[in-house]
Amino acid sequence: MDLDEQKITSFQTKILNFYKQQGRDLPWRNTSNPYYIHLSEIMLQQTQVSRVINYYQKFIKNFPDLKSLSKAPRYTLLSNWQGLGYNNRVIRLQESAKLILEKYDGKYPQDQKELQSLPGVGSYTSGAILSFAFNITSKVVDTNIRRILIHELNLDETTSIKELEEIAYQVTPSGKAKEWNNALMDYGALELTAKKAKIKPTTKQSKFIGSTRWVRSQIVKQLLEQHEINIKDLETRFHEYNIKEILEKMQKDQLIKIKNNKVYIFEN
Ligand code: ADE
Repeated sequence: MDLDEQKITSFQTKILNFYKQQGRDLPWRNTSNPYYIHLSEIMLQQTQVSRVINYYQKFIKNFPDLKSLSKAPRYTLLSNWQGLGYNNRVIRLQESAKLILEKYDGKYPQDQKELQSLPGVGSYTSGAILSFAFNITSKVVDTNIRRILIHELNLDETTSIKELEEIAYQVTPSGKAKEWNNALMDYGALELTAKKAKIKPTTKQSKFIGSTRWVRSQIVKQLLEQHEINIKDLETRFHEYNIKEILEKMQKDQLIKIKNNKVYIFEN
């Protein structure tokens, strides 16, 4: 894809000017600590900025570095995540912390492919870590950035994520990856919202209440309050669901363990 220079320059100017005037001050923007950036991106993957802020601040207070995170008991970890949802995220984050300590001597690799070998880190998150922590130009495309690129550069809605990643890389102002991606985030959140742009998202978050994800969250919530639950009680409470299947999956995800027909939080 060839974009002409002039178009790129005016796009850059527009977005960076917007950021200078209306950019948000968010707690993970005042740091270059890759662990904090990683944490914020994992929290922000499926949760809104306004809900993430308090969780983020509490989390870094309780687990200030990779080492403290890697040693945290599952129960404490899940307590700190309680209410954010998608509990698997924090388990994968802890697995990542262990990997970085063991394999990379506690230092985040500055390579997009290598970052993607960490559990829970996909193409977007690896690029976000590189740009926000190390100011390295990378291929960063999430729903918001996709929408902005398509709208501002008059691209076809069918443009593949792979192509968009190339374009995202190309249009990043030299030496300003961090500022640029923060600016794109704010432009997408405050100015060119999904509603305004009328561009269909590629994925949509499924309904929560009544979903399997909801049942899982209810089970974890109850376990954090009362330590153990009889499977029979869960079968009564959630009689429309296949509780055995849900519990098996949760056990596999290392969220819970099952002993003598009772459910507990997994012990790591
Ligand atoms: N959504 C995902 N990452 C974000 C970030 N760093 N700032 C604001 N919103 C985000």
